[in-house]
Amino acid sequence: MSASKPNANMLWGGRFTGGLDPLMVSYNESIYFDRAIYAQDIRGSIAYARANSKIGILTADEFAAIEKGFAQVLSEWESGTFEIKPGVDEDIHTANERRLGEIIGTSIAGKLHTGRSRNDQVGTGMRLWLRDQLREIDQHLVGLLRVTTSRAKSEISALMPGYTHLQRAQPIRWSHWLLSYGSVFASDLERLREVIRRVNRSPLGSGALVGNPFGIDREAMASELGFEGIINNSMAAVADRDFVVETLQWAATLMQHVSRWAEDLIIYSTAEFGFVRLADAYSTGSSLMPQKKNPDSLELLRGKSGRVFGHMAGLMMTVKGLPSTYNKDLQESFEPMLDAVKTTADSIQIATGVLSTLSIFPDRMRAALTPDMLATDLADYLVRRGVPFRETHHISGRVVALAEKEAKPMDRLTLPQLQAVDPRFADDVMDAFDYEASVEKRTVLGGTSKKSVEEQISRIQKLLE
Ligand SMILES: *[C@@H]1O[C@H](CO)[C@@H](O)[C@H](O)[C@H]1NC(C)=O
Ligand SMILES: *[C@@H]1O[C@H](CO)[C@@H](O)[C@H](O)[C@H]1NC(C)=O
Repeated sequence: MSASKPNANMLWGGRFTGGLDPLMVSYNESIYFDRAIYAQDIRGSIAYARANSKIGILTADEFAAIEKGFAQVLSEWESGTFEIKPGVDEDIHTANERRLGEIIGTSIAGKLHTGRSRNDQVGTGMRLWLRDQLREIDQHLVGLLRVTTSRAKSEISALMPGYTHLQRAQPIRWSHWLLSYGSVFASDLERLREVIRRVNRSPLGSGALVGNPFGIDREAMASELGFEGIINNSMAAVADRDFVVETLQWAATLMQHVSRWAEDLIIYSTAEFGFVRLADAYSTGSSLMPQKKNPDSLELLRGKSGRVFGHMAGLMMTVKGLPSTYNKDLQESFEPMLDAVKTTADSIQIATGVLSTLSIFPDRMRAALTPDMLATDLADYLVRRGVPFRETHHISGRVVALAEKEAKPMDRLTLPQLQAVDPRFADDVMDAFDYEASVEKRTVLGGTSKKSVEEQISRIQKLLE
């Protein structure tokens, strides 16, 4: 049975010219975004050519010509003079090779791609690019952690309410709040370093899917390119976009932390709290209400976390259910990668800028502390006298209720009033109503006492060395 051919004059064929649908051409092409990896594509090609010269596919002279030609291609990209040929340069690989051929002649340039496929080539370029970007992000995150720890150190005396359910809970040091995110960002840094190890593996030499037939040395190419090793199966190597998925998962997690951090600061910057004020560089006036100062930077950080999460979810949907090895769907991993990397790198730097220029108002923080936040300390007072906590919790609750009934702060109740609730309260009970003393009792590792906070700072600093 022969297939019926579509009629050249078909009604729905208005866009077709010479068998090509121009929309399909642009739908398919990736040059306008994958040119981001022009330099990595060239580096990969040079390593590939060198390896081919070792196995006799290229002569030493041919390799030298390729290397020299690519130096020119690279300088054209860098000086902005590289001309993309619309409709011809579908992607960065064809564009670079086309230009190389124009410079050194196609009889040599035409040998470059021997035994290679765009499938292993694109994975190589993307991984090199991503690895370098993630190393920069690592340094941005180190910067954020440095500002966090240095503020935590110099502002260690500021006390403020710690919140649960956004209700005043117990007194803490402001530094303890800073380090609560410092601790999270430090874990993000550890996670990032793990991700980089997996991004940094080479697929080069895998061909389209079965591997190179000329005995190319994959490990030599990998080490020339600074990879930490190769992907051990050629089919897995060309199929893999987990290195992008994992990066996006990492970035989504980090941005979720940045978002919560930003949300706390937005709350603390309201007139109702007044604990912090953003520098003008990171806030905007209202177009209508002259008294307003909006925390736009923090709102953008919170907002952009959704976008990064979206890229992650989108790519996971794209790759799920793909059959083995390379499928064109994988091209859809490129733009989310570019955008998430830029958004994340920018966001960390903005967060660092906000934090390093923020003013704090320790008096406002302290004024927000109320004696009822020491109810637990009152219970602990009796615990230290041997009363079981379940009982002291109940007694302390009765003191809170009494203070409410008397319409007085808890620390204004008299000793006889306290002793009427429980006779085991003695003169020294008034010491329990001291915010500083309350904070200083939390000397456990990870606690909010000065010593514990300093220990946390030094633990983060060790990670940054
Ligand atoms: C789509 O782009 C690829 C290069 O990525 C190219 O080989 C192929 O010919 C293009 N297909 C169409 C239909 O334009
Ligand atoms: C690939 O093989 C190397 C060398 O044996 C090994 O160290 C590495 O763990 C393997 N990688 C994976 C992901 O299995």
